Amino acid sequence: MMKLLFCISISFFLTAMAAINSGNFYAPTVAKMKILSPIREFPVLSGLQCTMACLSETTCYSYSITKSAGLATCRLGGAYDPTRIADPDSEFFFTDVPPGYNLVPGTKSYVKIVLDTTKTSAQAKTECEKDGAGLAIPNQEPVHNYLNKTMMENAAKLTTTYYNFWVDGKAFPPNHFVWFFRDGTNVTITAKGQGHFHPNEPDYGEGCLVVTYKFIWVAPYTYGNWVEPPTCTDLRSGYFCEIRVPDVIPRPSHQ
Ligand SMILES: *[C@@H]1O[C@H](CO)[C@@H](O)[C@H](O)[C@H]1NC(C)=O
Ligand SMILES: *[C@@H]1O[C@H](CO)[C@@H](O)[C@H](O)[C@H]1NC(C)=O
Repeated sequence: MMKLLFCISISFFLTAMAAINSGNFYAPTVAKMKILSPIREFPVLSGLQCTMACLSETTCYSYSITKSAGLATCRLGGAYDPTRIADPDSEFFFTDVPPGYNLVPGTKSYVKIVLDTTKTSAQAKTECEKDGAGLAIPNQEPVHNYLNKTMMENAAKLTTTYYNFWVDGKAFPPNHFVWFFRDGTNVTITAKGQGHFHPNEPDYGEGCLVVTYKFIWVAPYTYGNWVEPPTCTDLRSGYFCEIRVPDVIPRPSHQ
């Protein structure tokens, strides 16, 4: 396939500045794009100045640079995959995902499992947002499978009796059959046990979603199902965060 992503190593430009030379930015296959609603926008003399500005801003995960006569305009993005528009005079870049995030094969999603029995759903969401991520959206089949597989791999470390993890998904009780996700998609069921829900679910609750390593309350004791817990504030085994990027980040083949 094509014109793969290319990577601009900041260290190439800034060999002397050790503190920031680990920052990598990538251009997606379709790179001639301008960020629509930047968190900050300002004139710059060079692309490097825009790169530096993004690196120094904790909530900057991408930028676009737009050339015009003389100066250029730098637009900082508050997401890895911000809304952007095609523009022949612009160039779009997004930054690398933080350590702990692994690519879900067949997608442009990077997912991190966090084993943490002290977080409510809202607190888990806030933690993910510190990475520029959100709670994982489990309704893409490869992501669902990845979450299930990852829970299996971590089973020995699960110490609470709950055996489950917060993910994205919101229902509005008394309707427990329409689930909305932060990417604008929804899952609508007409009876318990449809889709990936456990046969007894969704039953009742405050409209938050978990994926279960193992459903232990009532048979069948299945693995990997979706469950609506009684509240959004009781504590779980942890949570999953997800970052969707514009294109898969090229990695050295030994990784
Ligand atoms: C769910 O998404 C579908 C497809 O985008 C849409 O047609 C439908 O209206 C949505 N349902 C709800 C309840 O928003
Ligand atoms: C989760 O993985 C287990 C083990 O591979 C499998 O038996 C189970 O059906 C999966 N659950 C779902 C809901 O996909």
